[in-house]
Amino acid sequence: MAKINDNYLKLPGAYLFSTVARKTNEFTESYPDREVIKMSIGDVTKPLAPAVIDAMRKAVDEMGTAEGFHGYGPEQGYDFLRDKIVEMDYKTRGIDIASDEIFVSDGAKSDCGNIGDIFSADNKVAVCDPVYPVYVDTNAMSGRAGEYVNERWSNLYYMPCTEENGFMPRLPEEKVDIIYLCFPNNPTGVAATREQLRPWVEYARENGAVILYDSAYEAFITNPDVPHSIYEIEGAKEVAIEFRSFSKTAGFTGTRCAYTVVPHALKLDGVSLNSLWNRRQCTKFNGVPYVIQKAAEAVYSDEGQKQTKEAIKYYLENAEIIREALNDAGLKVYGGENAPYIWAKTPNGMKSWEFFDKVLEETGVVITPGSGFGPSGEGYVRLTAFSTKENTIKAMKKIKDIL
Ligand code: MLT
Repeated sequence: MAKINDNYLKLPGAYLFSTVARKTNEFTESYPDREVIKMSIGDVTKPLAPAVIDAMRKAVDEMGTAEGFHGYGPEQGYDFLRDKIVEMDYKTRGIDIASDEIFVSDGAKSDCGNIGDIFSADNKVAVCDPVYPVYVDTNAMSGRAGEYVNERWSNLYYMPCTEENGFMPRLPEEKVDIIYLCFPNNPTGVAATREQLRPWVEYARENGAVILYDSAYEAFITNPDVPHSIYEIEGAKEVAIEFRSFSKTAGFTGTRCAYTVVPHALKLDGVSLNSLWNRRQCTKFNGVPYVIQKAAEAVYSDEGQKQTKEAIKYYLENAEIIREALNDAGLKVYGGENAPYIWAKTPNGMKSWEFFDKVLEETGVVITPGSGFGPSGEGYVRLTAFSTKENTIKAMKKIKDIL
């Protein structure tokens, strides 16, 4: 008889955002006339930039001509986009990345999940707590996380990020092999400076560990001491893989385009991880559509840069509105200055889901319970700045009114 991958049976409940969506749908069914404002999943609301749409339109027209038609593209991404990434995201910051170290993909979520394919099931994996659930769940699916007991996976090394440590993880006290880091952080919205990141690169170099660095929110960085790429830290190319995305940077959540950097210098036992990832991608992935990559290329044009930066500014203003409102309401608030996420402590020690339910039922505003990101997230909630300004203001007023 065929057998299933029973690691899936160990997963507790549904994926966090699916549970939030289910609860939201139940609310809408029970109260069809009540307004719902979503400040939960980090999904953008501003339309794609005009420069992006123009490029996409042109590419669509090309696809309808014999000369301009594109079938299967390179699995790693078209050179026109990889070269732009090298030039605009790395060279401008003094980082030397080659275009064949860039792998264009359909999302940082998929890549952060799929990267596990090239690592042995024996690796000891360290994750922040709270954490973006994809890192944890995908390791559980591949049997690397062990058993789920008392809200923790037995084989994962948890690095608590709490008020006491300013939501900055401490270096592992035991030897770990793979370390997921996400800065600016999802969910806490806290960003690591170069000084704070350097010891992680040193740890990885000393221990033969690999850092999986999720930099999906780098476009929101306002503090000049915060690096946009882990490769700004000396020696990182030998120990780190970086994930980037156009989702939050340029509103591509529904358009799907991202990229992962696997430097040639990154080797384990003399084996290049770049060649393993290339092998994996060529086998399991057929590349991002030409039309979408053309749209992503346009993000780097003068107009594209101007327009996408305006959208980021708009979301950061929303973040400020949320920070201010929750502060005024007496909540302790973190993040939101270099990130689109605001991490707030619930009032009167309420549990995360309890506060989620209260806010949904009494205001129609959907937030994310912090406990969904890990045990140390209990007692917190996450709000996103990706709503419209009007809805952000309205939602904050409603929440203030019930606190
Ligand atoms: C989030 O809300 O945490 C993100 O939108 C999830 C994602 O990017 O997949």
